Amino acid sequence: MKSSLSSPRKTPRTPPQKTARNTAPQSVPLSVPHAVPLLDLRRQYDGIREDVLAAIARVCDSQSFILGPEVEALEREIAALTGAACAVGCASGTEALWLALVTAGVKPGDSVITTAFSFFASASATVRAGATPVFVDVDPGTLNLDAALVDQLLRAKRPENLRAILPVHLYGQCADMDAFDRIVNEYAKEFEFAIVEDAAQAIGAEWSGRGAGSLGVTAAFSFYPTKNLSAYGDAGIVTTTHPEMAEHMRRLRNHGSPRRYYHDEFGWNGRMDAIQAAVLRVKLAHIADWNQRRRQHAATYDQLFADSGLTSHHGSDESGAPVRLLSRSPQAKHVFHQYVIRAQRRDALRKFLGERKIGSEIYYPLPLHLQPAFSYLGLKPGDLPVSEQAALEVLALPMFPELTEAETRLVVESIADFYS
Ligand SMILES: Cc1ncc(COP(=O)(O)O)c(C=O)c1O
Repeated sequence: MKSSLSSPRKTPRTPPQKTARNTAPQSVPLSVPHAVPLLDLRRQYDGIREDVLAAIARVCDSQSFILGPEVEALEREIAALTGAACAVGCASGTEALWLALVTAGVKPGDSVITTAFSFFASASATVRAGATPVFVDVDPGTLNLDAALVDQLLRAKRPENLRAILPVHLYGQCADMDAFDRIVNEYAKEFEFAIVEDAAQAIGAEWSGRGAGSLGVTAAFSFYPTKNLSAYGDAGIVTTTHPEMAEHMRRLRNHGSPRRYYHDEFGWNGRMDAIQAAVLRVKLAHIADWNQRRRQHAATYDQLFADSGLTSHHGSDESGAPVRLLSRSPQAKHVFHQYVIRAQRRDALRKFLGERKIGSEIYYPLPLHLQPAFSYLGLKPGDLPVSEQAALEVLALPMFPELTEAETRLVVESIADFYS
């Protein structure tokens, strides 16, 4: 992988807006809420039901179920949204990560630096590519891969056959891509490695006006049903600024086959279904609005927490406040896939909220370097202390576009009740 393959700066373009026939969510509770789900996809469905069913009917009428025109149209629209030159639809975000790594040049015997604080697939995709993940700790404010620690590691002892750095845009906020660009440029003359984005949680996010998915050499998105842009089953997409890599992705997702029944290399069946693409295209017309509503809910939460007196702001734990909010990078346009707090007595708080029928979740309870599957790396508790502490404290609160202000209020009031 050539380090000269750094991404051209591109401003993301807005995808063509489609008019939904019925956009007003019908099942949003109008009365005072007594329960708040972590995520309520039913409300979203109520607003787009006719369009979704028409899209599925279109695919059934076409009798073209795998790849084909719907997937190709989605690929063009995602390429436009992210500002990457190319997008390649595939079976899941996990598959997208594997395609992103392999086409960026990761091969057996290589190593890939990544965060210890993410979903398992961020690192297991490296293992599937035959390489070894090298876990580095996260920034205590954002919980994204800490570029300063990556730099330190490269200065102290460069991992053998380092081929890529894989930052994850955790919870919908981009990792510090300026810092990773600087690192790639600094080492460019000495050795070559690529930046591969795990953008699974970050569709529509930006860093300094550049779209997630156009910041690295390749990037992976997930359309798992809980994601900001979600399919009605598994689906994912890979983006790249390099057309030749996109062609390689297209072959690899289809058994390494450049044409039917001829196979140049070993790929796999990683194709996307047309029904998923058709559903995603309906939702894509709404993603800018949905992400904007998520940002508004996050601002409401921030304000309610500030008013409640429960928080110390952004990362510092010196005040002993029971709740801490995560840092927001000024360069980042956050899409709040999750709104996450750090809470004292987190597990008791979660139980208390559950009894009040308020949804919450822990993303993630065990850092990757301590997962049994990675025990062969020989890491132990204490090796990555920021990730380990975060795993004890993080709590995701209800967050979805159709959430109401009354619901956010109930969530924060309930948290205040717990600590009173
Ligand atoms: C950060 C991250 N990476 C990768 C994935 C894998 O995506 P998928 O579940 O679509 O395979 C997910 C989603 O679950 C994720 O959150």
